Amino acid sequence: MKKRYLLLLLSVFGISASAQKSIDQRVSELLSKMTLEEKVGQLVQYSGFEYATGPQNSNSATVLDEIKKGKVGSMLNVMGAEETRSFQKLALQSRLKIPLLFGQDVIHGYRTTFPVNLGQAASWDLGLIEKSERIAATEASAYGIHWTFAPMVDIARDPRWGRVMEGSGEDTYLGTQIGVARIKGFQGKGLGSLDAVMACAKHFAAYGAAVGGRDYNSVDMSLRQLNETYLPPFKAVAEAGAATFMNSFNDINGIPATANKYILRNLLKDQWNYKGFVVSDWGSIGEMIAHGYAKDKTEAAEKAILAGSDMDMESHVYMTELPKLVKEGKVDVKFIDDAARRILTKKFEMGLFDDPFRFSNEKRQKEQLNNQENRKFGREFGSKSMVLLKNQNNILPLSKSTKTIALIGPFGKETTANHGFWSVAFKDDNQRIITQFDGIKNQLDKHSTLLYAKGCNADDQDRSMFAEAVETAKKADVVIMTLGEGHAMSGEAKSRSNLHFSGVQEELLKEIAKTGKPIVLMVNAGRPLVFDWAADNIPAIVYTWWLGTEAGNSIADVLFGTVNPAGKLPMTFPRTEGQIPVYYNHYNTGRPAKNPTDRNYVSAYIDLDNTPKFPFGYGLSYTQFKYSDMTLNSSDLKGNQTLNISVNLSNTGSYDGEEVVQLYIRDLFGKVVRPVKELKGFQKIFLKKGESRNINFKLTPEDLKFFDDELNYDWESGEFDIMIGTNSQDVQTKRINWVK
Ligand code: BGC
Repeated sequence: MKKRYLLLLLSVFGISASAQKSIDQRVSELLSKMTLEEKVGQLVQYSGFEYATGPQNSNSATVLDEIKKGKVGSMLNVMGAEETRSFQKLALQSRLKIPLLFGQDVIHGYRTTFPVNLGQAASWDLGLIEKSERIAATEASAYGIHWTFAPMVDIARDPRWGRVMEGSGEDTYLGTQIGVARIKGFQGKGLGSLDAVMACAKHFAAYGAAVGGRDYNSVDMSLRQLNETYLPPFKAVAEAGAATFMNSFNDINGIPATANKYILRNLLKDQWNYKGFVVSDWGSIGEMIAHGYAKDKTEAAEKAILAGSDMDMESHVYMTELPKLVKEGKVDVKFIDDAARRILTKKFEMGLFDDPFRFSNEKRQKEQLNNQENRKFGREFGSKSMVLLKNQNNILPLSKSTKTIALIGPFGKETTANHGFWSVAFKDDNQRIITQFDGIKNQLDKHSTLLYAKGCNADDQDRSMFAEAVETAKKADVVIMTLGEGHAMSGEAKSRSNLHFSGVQEELLKEIAKTGKPIVLMVNAGRPLVFDWAADNIPAIVYTWWLGTEAGNSIADVLFGTVNPAGKLPMTFPRTEGQIPVYYNHYNTGRPAKNPTDRNYVSAYIDLDNTPKFPFGYGLSYTQFKYSDMTLNSSDLKGNQTLNISVNLSNTGSYDGEEVVQLYIRDLFGKVVRPVKELKGFQKIFLKKGESRNINFKLTPEDLKFFDDELNYDWESGEFDIMIGTNSQDVQTKRINWVK
């Protein structure tokens, strides 16, 4: 009876403080019964055998045997009620019957896939983002998953890096807000609820700053920059209760993140007082040998555990090396105890000791397969993630009674691609994808015609389909071109040096443009691409990213105006690859260009304007928004006063719509140089046509703080520019003075 009551409490309210206390005691009791090998076993994670998300080297028979011996703490890539149940049964054959934790990359949805994460960030809608993770957690937990390897909160300024699709873009403030929303979504009412999964903040740290945007590459940056730009999202999600952290593959200033004491021990575990556990990235402990930081597996294991990496994902070194390192006195057993305690605590919090099978539930799993409510949400989220980049002569929205529309391009009838990279659980879901063709066709009047021609493949030199595409375009009143990159062209290990449309896509576009037909270009991609010619010559452009299960419907909703697009770019779009990294919050330099074309002994390229193609925060709407002059409560502030900033926003166009009002500041002079702009707030506002509203922001000295060269975090008296606007480039500015 008592146990049932406790379970009920756990599932309804998550974990309370008193329950936590008894968990501490239960962990201590368990630890006192464990042998050294059993403790180390908790620190070991292997991948399942049907599906691998890295270079797998497990022998299935050995792993199954080790599980039975209590030498495995967790498995990844084991999914589904049945499969997780059968693995869990093996763990319960071990001496102490300690259940396994099942981890999985639930990155942008699970059985219902949502826009790739960078696309989600373009919605600037924290409510939608949180809800999408709530749904993902509900679906994944019903499939027996306890733990997602998300969110990725790596700040990234380089679109050559394929993993930008998995993050929230270049800005620390936006990335922090989104990271926290994701934690809330995944962990719901708290660990222990049946529909909550443990989150994992990754990749700790600075993975997004790999030199040259090449995946797994080194990172060399000042500790000041690291603390100011790359670490705040991690700190915020740790405070928000993220259950776990994951190491990054890169070295930071010469020390692999996996054995980096500064970030793992000093910052995360000591200064931030983090109580969750840290899992290595796939094989990252063993990779320290290739880094040249450990001479063999033994040294790799020693360095990783001492630095604070608690669990070994697929390096296969903790189990073989740690027991002997302890016996030889090279690793104090307190480090093993601490790591095992952190991991066991999470297993207790998840309720696994009370019922190891509580997440492996076929009935729940069935309810979550092709769940219509989740799909409905996915459709809305997809349409709200799209960014309208250009709409000359208001070509968009299209009329549903347009007589003939031609859909041309390699992605028109794609299924899998719409899921985007990291959609590990779609399995047999391909037939449930709404293609772009079907989505558009379903909304078109029955007397109208939708033609289709592929025109070319995503990434080869085959021009044999051009002629048919041109003929198809000639028959249409409007052409919708669908170009970009295939879903496997962005993601892990998908760095690109050339960000133009791959293969002959741009050539196809130019051929179709010669027909003189009005063209709407949809760009499908996981990252900012370079498409200068199209941006200058094609009248309407929508950035669709990869939108997930409901892609076709979301796209049709925007093209036909059922949804008015409101997305804003979470990353700066470069003019060309040579301009990378280009980001809005750069420093001014000693020789800033006076205007974009200034080349006179200034910090500029002799062959390129200094501005990006599309700035951070940019995105249009079918309606128009007008900003009044901003007003401030004071332009001379003292100490802990609050600055109130107001602006009146009006919808002056002919559609209801949403606008993301953005607030930036510039600290004009500092002990260390400050960025030309820093995002400090945003609000997403819905206004009916003709409607106006006052929008208010508040700033306090807390918002002015920065890290100086000695890593002190404080603010300084001085002048600040306060900027408000529709994107990072188009802002109005007022100067204030603020003294301590
Ligand atoms: C990735 C991680 C991922 C892990 C497990 C690694 O290759 O870097 O982000 O969570 O594999 O799939």
